[in-house]
Amino acid sequence: MTVETIPTSPIAGQKPGTSGLRKKVRVFQQPGYAENFIQAVFDVVERPAGATLVIGGDGRFHNRVVIAQAIRMAAANGYGRVLVGQGGILSTPAASHVIRTYGASGGLILSASHNPAGPDEDFGIKYNIANGGPAPEAVTEAIYARTQTIDRWLAVAGDVDIDSIGTSVVGDMTVEVIDPVADYAALMERLFDFAAIRRAVAGGFRMIFDAMSAVTGPYAVEILERRLGFPAGTVRNGTPLEDFGGHHPDPNLVHAKDLYDAMMAPGAPDFGAASDGDGDRNLIIGRHRFITPSDSLAMLAANAHLAPGYAGGLKGIARSMPTSAAADLVAKALGIPSYETPTGWKFFGNLLDAGLATICGEESAGTGSDHVREKDGLWAVLLWLNILAVRGLSVDALAREHWARFGRNYYARHDYEAVETAAANALMAELTAALSSLPGRAFGPLSVAAADSFSYSDPVDGSTSANQGLRVLFTCGSRIVFRLSGTGTEGATLRVYLEAYQPPDGAMDRETADMLADLIAAADTMAGITRHTGRTRPDVVT
Ligand code: G1P
Ligand code: ZN
Repeated sequence: MTVETIPTSPIAGQKPGTSGLRKKVRVFQQPGYAENFIQAVFDVVERPAGATLVIGGDGRFHNRVVIAQAIRMAAANGYGRVLVGQGGILSTPAASHVIRTYGASGGLILSASHNPAGPDEDFGIKYNIANGGPAPEAVTEAIYARTQTIDRWLAVAGDVDIDSIGTSVVGDMTVEVIDPVADYAALMERLFDFAAIRRAVAGGFRMIFDAMSAVTGPYAVEILERRLGFPAGTVRNGTPLEDFGGHHPDPNLVHAKDLYDAMMAPGAPDFGAASDGDGDRNLIIGRHRFITPSDSLAMLAANAHLAPGYAGGLKGIARSMPTSAAADLVAKALGIPSYETPTGWKFFGNLLDAGLATICGEESAGTGSDHVREKDGLWAVLLWLNILAVRGLSVDALAREHWARFGRNYYARHDYEAVETAAANALMAELTAALSSLPGRAFGPLSVAAADSFSYSDPVDGSTSANQGLRVLFTCGSRIVFRLSGTGTEGATLRVYLEAYQPPDGAMDRETADMLADLIAAADTMAGITRHTGRTRPDVVT
């Protein structure tokens, strides 16, 4: 094997964010850009000689170029085997499962998740470790540090046909092109009661799944249509396209509006769902009933024992800090611990590995369990289907039953996108400085009980992550959280998370916007959103 050493020099800004390194495709197309980052990964991560590396992505533009190069580099860097999804396809949860199943030392997931795709849009590279989960901060910091000193990258010659399943050799390394769906579909069959769902389908239960022209299409067609018997056409936009068909595959009420409208129309099917670019998120809408992701986490946790994979009960429930406290109420009722982590799936990994939590979720439409180490869109859809099939209830009836027992956490997230970075930083700095003066202050009918900057201490490895968002708690139990996105590629995105709790004997059937109106006004007054950003309303409300 002839290894070529290509001299290079550090490129600024290769710092992984909430979920890997994300930049515009044009940035990734600069000479050496992807190579520097991938070499930095190979230089610092734990990998025994001859280790296995998994490579796959969400099928977006530039995927194939980077996969071909990553294979040449992996061979030069001493990997023994690369597993790559056919056509370069692996959803993020499927990649996590493949890493775990085949004992890989890690994987490169090529995705910018829900960000749009195409030559002028976004690309990303994320490294996952041997447990199948996103690299923890210590690893991403080390990768970043290495990008700042890197002086060469290594490659061998060679090309692989990633469209044909089979084995070939590059340098001294084996490359196996695998079916991206098979292992994942088998795992889902082990976790869920497919027979019960099939009976419901035979009895007329109908759904729509919108794959948003991104990676989940092949998974959804195989599982929902072929294995569960939903009629052909149940999966919409089921072919992954390099530009996602121009869609913005973020499964929320703005970008999945067609699905929402279909579910609110007369004669809507029983169940509607969507996933995002790389398949780790989910949107759940029943006939005439939208379920917030925070509620979905709580409702799934309360009923998970109805699925064979969770029949033994849950060990604990974890949620990210901005996610509503609905799941905590379920944990309390089940007598199991609940955990509050910073935003980003990487913080759940330790809890899952240590057996402290079984189910995890984020308000950003991410839910998952200890079956992999990523959030998992189709998993959430299948758990919902399993529960509805066994309970014989509609989504709306299940939600009402849940709120009657636990109360309702009215919830919304307001996003202000592409805000000037300096303005967003000034807003956060001013609010941080004001935190200690907030308790006792009134904002309309609301009175502040406590305010802080969230800091997390990992109960497993003792590491601390500070500055994870600003929390303002009111005496009535309502809450506002402010944080800046760590996944954007242009300017800053301010996220404002609003939550108002109503106990079981309170108002269960009100409009969310009405229930949150006082909080929305308070958020602007205390943070000066309009003053700093010039914006009078959010770009996206989810
Ligand atoms: C966003 C979501 C977060 C999620 C991440 C990766 O991060 O808010 O919950 O884990 O995408 O999918 P943010 O842009 O807020 O940093
Ligand atoms: Zn995603």
